[in-house]
Amino acid sequence: MKQLYGVIGCPVHHSLSPLMHNGVFQQLGIEAYYHAFHVEKDQLPAAIQGLKALGIAGANVTIPHKTAVMPLLDEIDEMAQRIGAVNTIVNENGRLIGYNTDGPGFVRALCEETKTVIKGKRILLVGAGGAARGIYFALASEQAARIDICNRTRSTATQLIEEADVSIDSSVYSIEEAEKHLDEYEIIINTTPVGLYPNVEAMPLSLDRLEADTVVSDIIYNPLETKWLQEARQKRAIVQNGVGMFIYQGALAFEKWTGIFPDVKRMKQIVIQQLG
Ligand code: ATR
Repeated sequence: MKQLYGVIGCPVHHSLSPLMHNGVFQQLGIEAYYHAFHVEKDQLPAAIQGLKALGIAGANVTIPHKTAVMPLLDEIDEMAQRIGAVNTIVNENGRLIGYNTDGPGFVRALCEETKTVIKGKRILLVGAGGAARGIYFALASEQAARIDICNRTRSTATQLIEEADVSIDSSVYSIEEAEKHLDEYEIIINTTPVGLYPNVEAMPLSLDRLEADTVVSDIIYNPLETKWLQEARQKRAIVQNGVGMFIYQGALAFEKWTGIFPDVKRMKQIVIQQLG
């Protein structure tokens, strides 16, 4: 019998996850189907009960449900608990277990695609929202030397670091302060939506002081290469767009569901073809 999977979100109609997961199920000859489920906020508890009742084998959870879903699950993995968000559910014989593969997916993509190790690196995160939080924890668990955060609203960054309570050196800066000592970082990551379509001219942080060979990553993938990344490339940085994070969060979820780490190259082909 076909196993069923899906993504729960609102809106979810433009999600690339069904195409990506169905593509690898097919490639591996696994009898399974992945569907996009549009679920409004007030329907989330019913939808989660529905997963159990219908025996759906696993799901991804996306905006706006990543935090609200947590009390509805039977168990939450430690990393997801610390991040405060769940993006992957595994149905283990009727028990729903929540995981977060966004932060770990980002880190895995960064390491594989830019051939970088995190251990000992000086890292700057731009932004302090949900995405930054997942990435901060995942980087901290890889023993970065320091992870500083700059954000439009300074207090949000301070709060993120205080709540995280991990034993890693971290300072908070305004965007302007960070721009002045950009050359101190080996890895710089934009976690904000600044530069996202249609506001493609916007820049999250000036790259005037960027050194060549710095790793510069943007979690945005629409456009595929933001103006910010283009400028970093011109300055001979090692650049990475947001496709990698999307692919690897999906690949890590797929591995939790099936025990198989899928062909990320194939997943990337599918996604890039669609983004065109
Ligand atoms: P998410 O929580 O999903 O990561 P978000 O809430 O849209 O995304 O924003 C994430 C980060 O992008 C936040 O740090 C936010 O800054 P504030 O804390 O000051 O709100 C930052 N951000 C969003 N829009 C921005 C903008 N136009 N300029 C600068 N920073 C912005």
